[in-house]
Amino acid sequence: MGQVYDVSNGEEYYGKKGSYSIFAGKDASRAFVTGCFSDASHLTHDLRGLSENQIEELKNWVKFYQESDKYFQVGTLELPEIVPDSPVPLPC
Ligand code: HEM
Repeated sequence: MGQVYDVSNGEEYYGKKGSYSIFAGKDASRAFVTGCFSDASHLTHDLRGLSENQIEELKNWVKFYQESDKYFQVGTLELPEIVPDSPVPLPC
């Protein structure tokens, strides 16, 4: 959701060998709720087509990082606008 965290303290998760390394270095908000980690089209801030429940889940992840005492927000991203008639990522 455009927030940048220093997750160095979670290297076992987000480092090169971690199961969640796909979340490092990019805004992959969509994959947080679709679980489509190996589908590049989900490693995006494009939230079109997600359900209300999924948006709520995503907000819970935002809260998880905001409330963490391991991770610290270091910035925000200026995200490009999603082109309205571009294809919506397909479920994986
Ligand atoms: C949409 C699907 C999923 C997402 C987005 C997700 C995301 C994450 C993230 C970001 C972490 C790291 C938390 C941290 O930094 O402390 C984590 C931890 C973990 N995840 Fe997942 N996960 C998903 C599905 C699963 C599934 C299906 C399993 C099990 C089969 C699983 C098992 C775990 C385990 C065991 C941990 C470590 C928890 C701990 O030691 O505190 N996750 N998950």
